[in-house]
Amino acid sequence: MQRVSNIELRPSTIDDLNGVYSLYCAVAETPGGLARLRFEVTRSYVETFLHATLARGLGLVAVDEHGKIVAEIHSYSPEIFCFSHVLTDLTIAVHPSVQGRGVGRAIFTQFLSLVATQRPHISRVELIARESNERALAFYESLGFSREGELRDRVLNPDGSLESDIPMAWFTPDSSQ
Ligand SMILES: CC(C)(COP(=O)(O)OP(=O)(O)OC[C@H]1O[C@@H](n2cnc3c(N)ncnc32)[C@H](O)[C@@H]1OP(=O)(O)O)[C@@H](O)C(=O)NCCC(=O)NCCS
Repeated sequence: MQRVSNIELRPSTIDDLNGVYSLYCAVAETPGGLARLRFEVTRSYVETFLHATLARGLGLVAVDEHGKIVAEIHSYSPEIFCFSHVLTDLTIAVHPSVQGRGVGRAIFTQFLSLVATQRPHISRVELIARESNERALAFYESLGFSREGELRDRVLNPDGSLESDIPMAWFTPDSSQ
């Protein structure tokens, strides 16, 4: 694997809207990864999750030597007390031009490290991945996520077929879970 050099990881800001929107458009061109199809990736969608992330979550971007955002990860807490220790709806996207070169693992590892060290009130991080995205599922397991079941026939594919969604969770190392 040729790793990507000169990548900076930093917290996302609202000024990243255009760069993150371009990234998600590029990633959504290939179906089977992100839940959203290309036409469902709108500036409004990106703006909404950036605001939620900045208000009550954690988000990082990976920036290349030209200043281009090549990866993004975010997750945020639901707005009610009983879920205030949870980060949910985690989404990660790596630009197709650098997928498979270590950027996803680097940004996700940094994300979990920051949760563990800078978010003491968070003990659980959640994501959901479709069953056919086997490489992504294996990747998340390698980071410490566990499968928590199977949401049968939850995902409708463009060809009309249905497949399961797999809920996964990660717990902070000192969590009593
Ligand atoms: C899944 C994804 C985040 C992984 O990031 P990446 O930078 O490509 O991955 P890395 O090079 O850091 O490799 C990490 C692992 O991801 C897996 N992986 C690599 N390329 C991948 C790809 N194109 N799609 C899915 N998984 C991939 C590999 O199993 C790898 O494991 P290894 O380190 O044991 O070889 C990225 O490929 C991506 O954004 N894919 C499209 C969108 C998507 O599927 N998002 C997740 C929705 S749940």
